[in-house]
Amino acid sequence: MANTHEHHDVMGSAFAANDTVQASIDAILSELKTAQASITGARPAREGTAETYEGWLQRAADVRGRPCLYPYIGSGFGNGPLVELADGSVKWDMINGIGVHMFGHSHPTMVRAQLEAGLSDVCMEGNLQFNADMVELSELIAAEAAKGSDIKYCFMTNSGAMANESALKVCQQKTNGAPRILAFNDCFMGRSTTMAQIGDSAGGRVGIPQNALVDYLPFYDELDGPASACYAMKRLEEYIKRYPGQHSCCIFELVQGEGGFTVAPREFFEPLMKRCKEAGIPVWSDEVQTFGRTESDVPLPGAGSRSVRRRDDHRQDESDLRRALHRGVQPQGGASQWHLLLLDQCLPGRPGRAHHAA
Ligand SMILES: Cc1ncc(COP(=O)(O)O)c(C=O)c1O
Repeated sequence: MANTHEHHDVMGSAFAANDTVQASIDAILSELKTAQASITGARPAREGTAETYEGWLQRAADVRGRPCLYPYIGSGFGNGPLVELADGSVKWDMINGIGVHMFGHSHPTMVRAQLEAGLSDVCMEGNLQFNADMVELSELIAAEAAKGSDIKYCFMTNSGAMANESALKVCQQKTNGAPRILAFNDCFMGRSTTMAQIGDSAGGRVGIPQNALVDYLPFYDELDGPASACYAMKRLEEYIKRYPGQHSCCIFELVQGEGGFTVAPREFFEPLMKRCKEAGIPVWSDEVQTFGRTESDVPLPGAGSRSVRRRDDHRQDESDLRRALHRGVQPQGGASQWHLLLLDQCLPGRPGRAHHAA
């Protein structure tokens, strides 16, 4: 596979590989590491900053129309789990942006990736004007996914919720607009109006008209063990009987994260997926956060068989980086043969400015 960053026959690649440009990036990285070395533990606010922390919080509340959920306003700098706030204080970050900062703050590899990405023209992730990077990254992801599945395609999009919206459209089109959706208790799907309705959180639905018809299945419960699968199957059968031909999809979030990390064994998922397919219900799998919760880069094929990352596992290696930068879903086309992988982020060294990280 030709790689534009290795083949300097076009100006874009030649510019990125230019010795002066690379030396400049190396110099920035070197300065970064020196500056980071001074961040070794929590520390109080600096005296005499131009704006007080209370001032920052008030400005955030004023411009957003509501106060911050947590009193957190970062300076944009940190060192691993230590993060500097706008008042110059340093805190231990125990939430990692729910995945966004899972490699730690100001990780040099991430900074290099962003600098290199900044050299490339803005990349559009839609149906026109994408760059060669998108093709290369999609090929890489699709090839990885194909190692253990029938997945052939990769389609970039710019957020998990948007990937899910696209997956839902695909499923609905596949089933001629079937109106109902099967989902699991405690799932999280994103914050668009439809995803907020499918996601099993009462708070997320406040004030939103309920126009998505969602039928919930019980998820795996360790205490019930194999009986969990029976409960879920019984409920699935009820819905199939009650609403024959009316479900556009069954959405599986293979590693749930809304109430702690919950994962089910393969024996839980497989019969349910099989039954859905028999009933002509497309199986859609949301792996938007799975990449950060398991031990493999592209964890799609081994549904239910993956080990979930321990909460105290803070390794920050290249592989971890890949994990956090991949965020995707894998809708599978019911009884049909097609598979589609939707991803919304880029690898280090690839253009990422048009991406969002949430
Ligand atoms: C399982 C799952 N689906 C969808 C989303 C939405 O992704 P985004 O915030 O990028 O829209 C998330 C975000 O955390 C998620 O965990």
